[in-house]
Amino acid sequence: MIKADQTRTPLFEAVKKYIESNVIPFHVPGHKHGRGLQEFKEFIGETALKMDLNGMEDLDFATNPTGVILEAEKLFAQAFGADAAFFLVNGASAGVLNMILSACAPGDQIVIPRNAHKSTFGAVILSGAIPVYVQPEINEELGITTGVTVKKIRAAIKDHPHAKAVFVINPSYYGIVPDLKSIVRTSHHGQMAVLVDEAHGAHMSFHDGFPLTAMEVGAEMSAVSMHKTGGSLTQSAALLIRGNMVRPDAVKHVLNLTFTTSASYLLMCSLDVARKQLAVEGNELLEKTLNLARWAREEINKIHGLYAFGRELVGTPGFYDLDETKLPVCVGELGLTGYETESILRKKYNIQIELSDLYHVLPYISIGDTEESVESLIEGFKDLASKHSKTRPSRTTIIPQNPEMIVAPRDAFYSPKKIIPLEQAEGEISGEIIMAYPPGIPVICMGERISKEIIDYIKLLKSEKCELQGTADPYVQYLRVLGVE
Ligand SMILES: Cc1ncc(COP(=O)(O)O)c(C=O)c1O
Repeated sequence: MIKADQTRTPLFEAVKKYIESNVIPFHVPGHKHGRGLQEFKEFIGETALKMDLNGMEDLDFATNPTGVILEAEKLFAQAFGADAAFFLVNGASAGVLNMILSACAPGDQIVIPRNAHKSTFGAVILSGAIPVYVQPEINEELGITTGVTVKKIRAAIKDHPHAKAVFVINPSYYGIVPDLKSIVRTSHHGQMAVLVDEAHGAHMSFHDGFPLTAMEVGAEMSAVSMHKTGGSLTQSAALLIRGNMVRPDAVKHVLNLTFTTSASYLLMCSLDVARKQLAVEGNELLEKTLNLARWAREEINKIHGLYAFGRELVGTPGFYDLDETKLPVCVGELGLTGYETESILRKKYNIQIELSDLYHVLPYISIGDTEESVESLIEGFKDLASKHSKTRPSRTTIIPQNPEMIVAPRDAFYSPKKIIPLEQAEGEISGEIIMAYPPGIPVICMGERISKEIIDYIKLLKSEKCELQGTADPYVQYLRVLGVE
């Protein structure tokens, strides 16, 4: 294949040309280059609002690209080692939805790790696919789920030989990676397509210090959140495909159903420019990022009471490799929960981290970081640790085991439901998805049996002020379960 010129940004160039040509806009958006939204324009800047455009001949149409958007997507595909790429403006969530809708018809089975993101469960409901859940490994000491093992995937494939696809997360929010290469080999042996959630892995193709990506190991599809780690604007993402098992026209057909007819040019231009940046200088930028992350990990691990787990865990169950730019810091020894630590870091040190759970906080280190920003983080942790000594005993980890799926998620979604107090929900079948956000992984899914263990876990998360989402009752005092009032 002839290498395309990755320094080009066809979409961004076309938008700049449109702006320079001073076109008189009689098209939406109705703010018309910001003139109809003065206060916002003054704050954000005129150029940003001039870039907020809609499809037209010279700017192409995102729903059926044949011009500059198609060119930009081709460059994007090549940079990521894919056969084709499709820009997305509703996050990797849209990528996950489109992957599953493309691969599965109603009733088709799909192997899914139970620690998948909520978008996966939404996609299962919308597609009518039947999930074959695989339990990820649990590191009891740290209180986190790691990845799925090849052994479990192999067993799921053996038990469900007619499944259409295998879904994999690469890497997890915590940076943990399963043995993707072997999973792809095993899945292909069973004639199953591999769909990979790479929401947290957009940067990984551009430096050898990162785990292998879906495209590198021959998976069929990948959803990448360029906005998370690739440098583009929030919500911008891409769907990558390769190989013969999933046809690009089938994917386009599905995208046509789900895609907005008003995709943001700001978002798409940011994809074009961020792709160029990664392709041209990604190696250098990520070398610096990795060094910053390694330095932060080393310094944080010198602080009494903190533990930033790292490569020493590679080889433990479900932990095949690590994206070191994710920096989960275990704070249990300080007698604090992750939620409390997040709040202290924000209020006392003006530091906002990406995620907290019961035991950890997780700062993300990215191409946007500098020595100064990372130093502030290290200093913040040092000061915080010096002011907190252990005041309460360590908790025992209680990550509930896979709940039992009684009713397929789509059937549960369409079943009659009644509302009952959380306390009385033991043994009932859940009519909603409850997840801790972030990371957005369901504690219970629609159609699963609610156990006492699950109720206790929800109560614990509530008492620790974890952000619970997905329920009709925002306080999660009541649950919707299957049944008639
Ligand atoms: C594992 C995983 N998959 C998918 C998503 C969805 O990505 P986006 O926010 O880009 O829609 C997330 C978001 O946090 C995620 O953590």
